[in-house]
Amino acid sequence: MGCGIAEVCVASGLDVILSDVSANSLERGLEKVHAGIERQVSKGKISSTDAKSASAHLWGSITFDDFVACDMVIEAATEDVEIKERIIRELDKVVKAGALIASNTSSVSITALATKMSNPGRFIGMHFFNPVPVMSLVEIIRGIETTDATYEATMALATRVGKTPISVKNSPGFAVNRILIPMINEAIFVLQEGLASAPEIDAGMQLGANHPVGPLALADLIGLDTTLAIMEVLYRDFNDSKYRPAPLLREMVDAGRLGRKTGTGFHSY
Ligand code: CAA
Repeated sequence: MGCGIAEVCVASGLDVILSDVSANSLERGLEKVHAGIERQVSKGKISSTDAKSASAHLWGSITFDDFVACDMVIEAATEDVEIKERIIRELDKVVKAGALIASNTSSVSITALATKMSNPGRFIGMHFFNPVPVMSLVEIIRGIETTDATYEATMALATRVGKTPISVKNSPGFAVNRILIPMINEAIFVLQEGLASAPEIDAGMQLGANHPVGPLALADLIGLDTTLAIMEVLYRDFNDSKYRPAPLLREMVDAGRLGRKTGTGFHSY
């Protein structure tokens, strides 16, 4: 998702530093952002001159030190709370006074992540949706300490990058994933119980509920590991059995069938 966020930010004229865990994955990420910008050109949405100037505003880095120049850093690491906490702690050491840090977490408590900052008032949730260049929504989530100034600057940034922000209280899964991910989990139970095949379940929700894509295909797009991680947060934090992850979801993740990113999930790619 970081690549999608970087793409919409550079396309809006912002200077962007993309970061990743290794030089190789950073290189792949930068290529993905450039390819996304080229895609806009081929669709006639932006001119090649604008694409060139946008691409010139994109840099890559694998060290945290380069974030010293940033007004805002958006963390979009894998949905693992320990990894996110470590990144936030490291960022907090290097960013300039007054810089904001946002997390693109899809479920973890913003109030809890903010405690890793020396000034939790400068921390906020900025939750984008996949694929980021296409989906208009950003959920903006304030932690208990998030200041009005941080909130207003983040709302303004979301609008500047062409998204429609909605304000959601800090709660497991926020608003959209609290509704969407249990729906996907239920579709996996339906598959596990043999009520219908994966293509039939997806066709059912596309043709019978007008969803743009079926729930199992959507799980493949989101990533089955991410889907499971979100269900686990809902299950643990609400302590309610209605959020228990489907055993088949866990088995698919154990098998490394994570969806589009591994080539196999509920469908093959
Ligand atoms: N990057 C950029 N653009 C993309 C894209 C991508 N990865 N995938 C598709 N597009 C663009 C296409 O280029 C096309 O653009 P134009 O209309 O300008 O031609 C448009 O999106 C439609 O694409 P397609 O015609 O190829 O395919 P489609 O009609 O099946 O649409 C889709 C693809 C927009 C992704 C659609 O399937 C959809 O809306 N799916 C549901 C997505 C969704 O629910 N996302 C939320 C997931 S939950 C989440 O992200 C939160 C979380 O924390 C887990």
